[in-house]
Amino acid sequence: MKFFIDTANLDQIREAQALGVLDGVTTNPSLMAKEGITGKNNILKHYVDICHIVDGGDVSAEVIATDFEGMVREGEELAELHEQIVVKVPMIRDGVKALNYFSDKGIRTNCTLVFSPGQALLAAKAGASYVSPFIGRLDDISTDGLNLISEIREIYDNYGFGTEILAASIRHTMHVIECAKIGADVMTGPLSAIEGLLKHPLTDIGLEKFLSDYRKGNG
Ligand code: G3P
Repeated sequence: MKFFIDTANLDQIREAQALGVLDGVTTNPSLMAKEGITGKNNILKHYVDICHIVDGGDVSAEVIATDFEGMVREGEELAELHEQIVVKVPMIRDGVKALNYFSDKGIRTNCTLVFSPGQALLAAKAGASYVSPFIGRLDDISTDGLNLISEIREIYDNYGFGTEILAASIRHTMHVIECAKIGADVMTGPLSAIEGLLKHPLTDIGLEKFLSDYRKGNG
């Protein structure tokens, strides 16, 4: 399972990278705005900065246009920025056309804002490299987000689609574990969800006992 971090915050990306388990980064316009990154040149530079932190990892950069020509124009510009860039395209009619176009051109894509198995099937048919089902946002409206991951896994396995399932809108550590059990190829979430995997009270208690026993015998 690949671990991506879902943020545009460079410090958090550096921290996750330093842990040695980071495979990539996903961003979106809301995450860029949260970091105060505005203006086209600043945004493009920020993507390159992220690529330099994540050694060889994929970095999703989202198009803003919602029409086919605009998405193609923006996507080609993003892909030119750095070889690690994956063009993030929304699951809308022109987005499906753009996924197909980018696939033919050998430009890697991440189809975002996916909330149903049908949308995921369409993204795979259009040649998306990644599909991003938003599990947390489904949970928010009392729908089973993890079940969507299972449904997509089944459909993709039935037909051998190469599109990777990127479980997005991960909110906490249990989401990560459940996605791993289901067989999501990738998860993207906050640093806290990754760091939560580290923690167990018995680890802390056990380590404290080992160290205190050592201190007893070694002054
Ligand atoms: O980047 C897409 C997705 O992970 C957004 O998550 O927490 O805003 O629902 P969230």
